[in-house]
Amino acid sequence: MSGKTMRAITQDTLGGPEVLRPTETDRPEPGVGEILVRTHAAGVNPIDWKTREHGAFLGKPPFVLGWDVSGVVEAVGLGVRLFQPGDEVYGMPLFPEQAGAYAEYVAAPARHFAHKPAELGHAEAAALPLAGLTARQALVDVGRVQAGQRVLIHAAAGGVGHLAVQIAASFGAHVIATARTANHDALRALGADELLDYTAVDVNTVVRDVDFVLDSLGGANTAATLATLKDGGTLVSLPSPEEDAVIPQAAERGVRAGFMLVQPDRTGLLAISDLVRTGQLRPLMGPAFPLERAGDAHRVGEKAGTLGKIVLTVA
Ligand SMILES: NC(=O)c1ccc[n+]([C@@H]2O[C@H](COP(=O)([O-])OP(=O)(O)OC[C@H]3O[C@@H](n4cnc5c(N)ncnc54)[C@H](OP(=O)(O)O)[C@@H]3O)[C@@H](O)[C@H]2O)c1
Repeated sequence: MSGKTMRAITQDTLGGPEVLRPTETDRPEPGVGEILVRTHAAGVNPIDWKTREHGAFLGKPPFVLGWDVSGVVEAVGLGVRLFQPGDEVYGMPLFPEQAGAYAEYVAAPARHFAHKPAELGHAEAAALPLAGLTARQALVDVGRVQAGQRVLIHAAAGGVGHLAVQIAASFGAHVIATARTANHDALRALGADELLDYTAVDVNTVVRDVDFVLDSLGGANTAATLATLKDGGTLVSLPSPEEDAVIPQAAERGVRAGFMLVQPDRTGLLAISDLVRTGQLRPLMGPAFPLERAGDAHRVGEKAGTLGKIVLTVA
């Protein structure tokens, strides 16, 4: 530790949004191979409120939530050549270990970051890493989605879903997206070819012959959506490892299915930056809250139905 302090949102117990408290805490220092980033914006994701309430990968508090960071390099640790102080960077460092993005400073391995695309402000950049890397790792690394393939994106209006629609469309895939009708125009503008209102139709009985399914819903949807895949197709499920229960059923049907957990990924960030630069990817933005109002950001996010990513502004 540096002996200096910083503002951060900490929690001492698991619970509702009220456990998130602004505090003054130790400011980290960059270790070997790390950079110290002065946070300008921190993205808010469902894993944040799952962790706040249940501990998830962080276990017992005290801890500082948040993985999505956009900010400016304050200092670099021994051996870092990728960045220098003053560089604007973004990333999803350390996931699923503690990154502590709900704070004025984050120290983490340099290779968990990339330069922020100049086309984006810090709030937009902080909206991208966790959701964008999840979408890309699912579609590209697991699904190996190709031009012309049929892709079904459940919860396409969500943080992961709306980025997955754009990434799949950038490959020339045929994108079938599920969302309430109110969100259809926005998703069509992002590249969805077919839109289904999941409140009006049973998606898993009307869609067939898809090469890849992104299941952001989990629960009963995971087994039910196997029926939409063509032989040899791939399903990636995101909400919980419990969805691995479908693996034997999938094997019987001649498809691949299972849970995937996103990982820090500089190569993925660079690919996302390229899509931003070429105008093929942009985050839909929801409300921004100052760091001190992290609890309110969670209240809005947990209610669902908010189109666009929620971020905390820090600097
Ligand atoms: N495993 C991993 O590495 C990983 C990474 C990221 C996220 N996740 C998980 O993936 C899930 C989605 O994350 P997210 O950030 O995309 O969440 P989100 O932004 O909170 O997604 C909410 C959206 O889901 C849509 N939705 C709700 N029920 C639906 C249904 N039955 N059919 C279609 N759409 C429905 C809603 O769209 P409408 O407004 O159209 O109703 C809403 O906009 C969460 O459980 C999250 O924890 C896992």
